[in-house]
Amino acid sequence: MEILHTPADARSYVLRQQREGRSVAVVPTMGALHDGHLSLVEIGKQYCDRVSATIFVNPTQFAPHEDLDQYPRTLDQDLSRLRSLGTDAVFVPEVASMYPEGCTTSVLPPRVANRFEGQYRPEHFGGVCTIVLKLFQCLPCDVAVFGRKDYQQWRVIESMVEDLNLPIRILAGEIVRDSDGLAMSSRNRYLSDAERQSALVIPRSLDQLVSEVRQGERNVERLQASLLKCLMGDGVSDSACVDSVDYAVVVDAESLEPISELDRPAVALIAAKVGATRLIDNRVIEL
Ligand code: PAJ
Repeated sequence: MEILHTPADARSYVLRQQREGRSVAVVPTMGALHDGHLSLVEIGKQYCDRVSATIFVNPTQFAPHEDLDQYPRTLDQDLSRLRSLGTDAVFVPEVASMYPEGCTTSVLPPRVANRFEGQYRPEHFGGVCTIVLKLFQCLPCDVAVFGRKDYQQWRVIESMVEDLNLPIRILAGEIVRDSDGLAMSSRNRYLSDAERQSALVIPRSLDQLVSEVRQGERNVERLQASLLKCLMGDGVSDSACVDSVDYAVVVDAESLEPISELDRPAVALIAAKVGATRLIDNRVIEL
């Protein structure tokens, strides 16, 4: 596995592969890798001759009060997991090479970034789009793989790629969950055992939503109300619940715009806090 440290190394790696007739997939990550990340590497391997991961904790997508300093950094372990999976290369740039002194240019994210995460984390998608575009410049790949765990992020990247005419095909991997149903996330390690039990109400609320839809419910207002009720508990029994909900919505699966009836592909999106940890999850609703 080649370790690529600088943008120049990264670029010449990809160009060399392509010159020799091999296609290249890239899987951007911030490290602290789990099976969700690794599933994206597997997808990259299926579609391309070579797959490269990137590991970079991107400072511009964290607000000043967020967990940039605390964000888990487990580089040695990450590299050995990638190596044992047969990853061909890993790009691990320094902050100074991605954001050189005096660098002020950034990407204005597409419209689909405005609501939900964009509302609760106003600088977030600007930082994500900017770093992903920069990573694509360093690694001018054929395919890039993102996870549906960050559903809105995946849609934002798809829109950016289309709007900016980037010649890269975006693929999306399914959400990988732990055996208890919680979507894998680098931030799950912040949860205490008790908080983790409470957090399980998130996937459970999405299961409940799916069964309501299966029973014929098509009204989005009622579905959202019941999603919220499940997340917040009834306040009477001691059933598990989250501490606060930023949003719990059912929206158009592509534009993320509001809908009133389930008359087209839709997605349920949740962001909720358990203790100090903010978790996101989602479920595509198929009729
Ligand atoms: P990170 O949170 O490390 O996630 C990297 C990729 O892994 C993202 O595409 C994310 O959606 C995917 N992923 C995370 N958990 C997953 C799970 N349980 N199942 C499937 N895929 C999962 O997302 C970022 O980093 C950053 O914003 C980044 C795109 C790298 C830009 O800095």
